[in-house]
Amino acid sequence: LNYQAASFITSAPTLAKCPADAGAEVAFAGRSNAGKSSAINALTRQKALARTSKTPGRTQLINFFSLDEGDEHRLVDLPGYGYAKVPEQVKLEWQRHLSDYLRRRASLRGLVLLMDVRHPLTEFDQTLLGWADEADMPVHILLTKADKLKRGAAKNALQQVRSRLREWEDLVTVQLFSSLKKDGIEEVHQRLDDWLLA
Ligand code: GTP
Ligand code: MG
Repeated sequence: LNYQAASFITSAPTLAKCPADAGAEVAFAGRSNAGKSSAINALTRQKALARTSKTPGRTQLINFFSLDEGDEHRLVDLPGYGYAKVPEQVKLEWQRHLSDYLRRRASLRGLVLLMDVRHPLTEFDQTLLGWADEADMPVHILLTKADKLKRGAAKNALQQVRSRLREWEDLVTVQLFSSLKKDGIEEVHQRLDDWLLA
C-alpha cells in the first residue's frame, strides 16, 4: 500500500458514528501521549496528517485516514487512554466503546498498540491485550520513543516485553519504533500490508 498517499476521511465522536464497516482498517491504540498520532505521521511521511501535542489527551475523537481512492484501506487514530484529567465516568464509557469496537468491527484487521519504551505494559495496556485475545484480534506492539534510550537499553526493553508476552505470542508481535528518528517504519509497513491486503 502507498502510505504516503494517506488522506483524512473524517472524525467520529463515537464508534457508532464511524464510517461504513466495509473494506479493511487497522487501529492505533495506546496510552495518552504514547505517540500514536506521531507514528501515523511518520508512517505516512506527512508532517501533520494526524494532530500531535505535548499535552496528553489531544486526540479526543476517532480519526479515520484513507490509503486509497475508495477508502477501502484505512488507518484509525484512537483517543489515548489513561489521561488523568478525564472524569472516571467518561473513561469507563470509552473503555466499553473500545472493547465493543474490537469485538464488533468486521473491517478491523489488527491493532497497533503503542507503548512508551520506558513505560511498557501499563495496567490498561494489559486489559486491552486481554480484550484483543478474546476478540481473536492480532496486535502489533510499537515500543515508541526508542530514541530516548541508548541502543542496548532499548534492545533490553524489547527482550523484556517479548518475554512478558510469551503467553500471547501467537497473537502479538513487538518492535522498537521512533517517529523522531523514523526508525522501524519498514517493519510496521510490512505488518500493515499483511493485515490490510490479506
Ligand atoms: P493522545 O492523542 O493524547 O492520545 O497522544 P498520542 O499518543 O497521539 O501522542 P502524540 O503523537 O501526540 O505525541 C505525544 C508527544 O510525544 C509529542 O510531544 C511528540 O512529539 C512526542 N513523541 C512522539 N513520538 C516520539 C518519538 O518517537 N520520539 C520522541 N523523542 N518523542 C516523540
Ligand atoms: Mg493523538
